Amino acid sequence: MAEQNNELLVARDLTRYYEVSRGFLKGHATVKALNGVSFSLQPKRTLAVVGESGCGKSTLARQLTMIEPATSGQLLVEGVDVAHADKATLKAMRSKVQMVFQNPYASLNPRKTILATLDEPLMINTGLSKSERLEKIKAIVAKVGLRPEHIHRYPHMFSGGQRQRIAIARAMILNPKIVVADEPVSALDVSIQAQILNLFMDLQDEFNTGYVFISHNLSVVEHVADDLMVMYLGSTVEYGSKASIYAKPLHPYTQALMSATPAIREEDRRIKIKIQGELPSPLNPPSGCSFHKRCPHASERCKQEVPQLRQVDDRLVACHHVETINA
Ligand SMILES: Nc1ncnc2c1ncn2[C@@H]1O[C@H](COP(=O)(O)OP(=O)(O)O)[C@@H](O)[C@H]1O
Ligand SMILES: [Mg+2]
Repeated sequence: MAEQNNELLVARDLTRYYEVSRGFLKGHATVKALNGVSFSLQPKRTLAVVGESGCGKSTLARQLTMIEPATSGQLLVEGVDVAHADKATLKAMRSKVQMVFQNPYASLNPRKTILATLDEPLMINTGLSKSERLEKIKAIVAKVGLRPEHIHRYPHMFSGGQRQRIAIARAMILNPKIVVADEPVSALDVSIQAQILNLFMDLQDEFNTGYVFISHNLSVVEHVADDLMVMYLGSTVEYGSKASIYAKPLHPYTQALMSATPAIREEDRRIKIKIQGELPSPLNPPSGCSFHKRCPHASERCKQEVPQLRQVDDRLVACHHVETINA
């Protein structure tokens, strides 16, 4: 997880705020959807981003895919800062980062055949001839596990899992450096989820793609992640290698998430913590540590002072009491 020379992606203190109207005569307020996150990603590695609904995961995905500009901070894709880049730079960089969405029903155009859907990125971004494009389309269709004749069909003729295979083919066809997958199996039957996760991993092996894999579910990312970033209310609370965080989560929020994840083996769930209460709103975040109202270890200091993300053992943790909790 430490920054190396072959970084595909580096985020430094990335923030995204939204101005929202609070209603008639009440003026505006600021939603700190992403409140300063930093991480890095190397080729052929997977960074899993985990946290409850509303913690800023999709906002982060929109930053990484350059759909929205950052409010502040840096986002380097192969060394180029795209957080505040001009249009020409963004156009050049966008094809390097592709996205797979949660809902393959909504993300595929129902009026286009699979052939047309997969041809579109090739027509826009490459100078390939029609027959060269068809070769590429046939190759990726085979790699994602669909049959050649499927390319003439429309999205409604496929199952959810097959549709997600098509969405993955569309993301991979330009051989991007980075794929951002936002809850890519959350809408699928559990029996299909493992197949799609395996497909992601096979494609990564073949194309050396770096993945940012977003999920609210720790058991989904356990087998795909190399590194893990746990987010709470727009901020990173724990960041490190997947193996060490699953072996011994240090932040009380990570511990609570782990103990609430049934698929993680019982003997690994030593620490039993229930997350109490609702996720607070980023429109009106608690003072001090944003987790303090739900944390069993919260002290007076936690109510007042925001904990900085700092090195603890082999990872980064944002908690005033992390040493005493885990002693
Ligand atoms: N365009 C927007 N305008 C205002 N608030 C937004 C916007 N997009 C997201 N938010 C708010 O930012 C927070 C994070 O949202 P999101 O990134 O979708 O979280 P997640 O994907 O983890 O569920 C939420 O409180 C959400 O309501
Ligand atoms: Mg989301």
